[in-house]
Amino acid sequence: MSNIVWHDHAVDKQSRAELKGQKPLVIWFTGLSGAGKSTLAGALEQALAASGKHTYLLDGDNVRHGLCGDLGFDDAARQENIRRVGEVAKLMVDAGLIVLTAFISPFRAERALVRNLLGADEFVEVFVDAPLAVCEERDPKGLYKKARAGEIRNFTGIDSAYEAPENPEIHLLNAGKPVEALVDELLTALRQRGLID
Ligand code: ADX
Repeated sequence: MSNIVWHDHAVDKQSRAELKGQKPLVIWFTGLSGAGKSTLAGALEQALAASGKHTYLLDGDNVRHGLCGDLGFDDAARQENIRRVGEVAKLMVDAGLIVLTAFISPFRAERALVRNLLGADEFVEVFVDAPLAVCEERDPKGLYKKARAGEIRNFTGIDSAYEAPENPEIHLLNAGKPVEALVDELLTALRQRGLID
């Protein structure tokens, strides 16, 4: 990045956030495939939007069609996936948005990298904790079956690691509770932290 100088513009993060009447932040959902990240992030986004918040949901399955369409699932590709998403989320926070992300994001190091891109109160890690057996039983996309059959390699939880968060801001146990109850837990936790009103 030699010969490239950062340019500060007059309209800044604070003014954009004030216009929207909200505190920009990233709500980062992590968990196994089929744990319920996308469903919960989508339901929380609906609740936030209904209360007048400006949001954007970055979802692994969608981002991998475009921005990260060139990436696979070996460790290096997953690292690059999360690095790109982290940078995009940071830009969206700069734009004043409440960003929700739904990525397996299996490695602690990359989650820490994204956390460090943002301010101390701008990153909320949500561990969507569902046992592998439950995710495999649900198998909404039939991918666990394929992974067990050896048709997909490097599948998280089968032959690729998932490093559970050690100290997430929010730890949700997703084994049988209705989505609405979990969204209420999320809204309460965000309010308690003074991140939303
Ligand atoms: S991450 O590990 O890089 O964060 P990401 O969340 O973007 O993963 O994508 C995960 C989704 O891709 C899964 O929900 C699943 O639908 C699909 N997928 C395809 N192959 C794999 C694989 N080998 N491991 C995990 N998910 C996979």
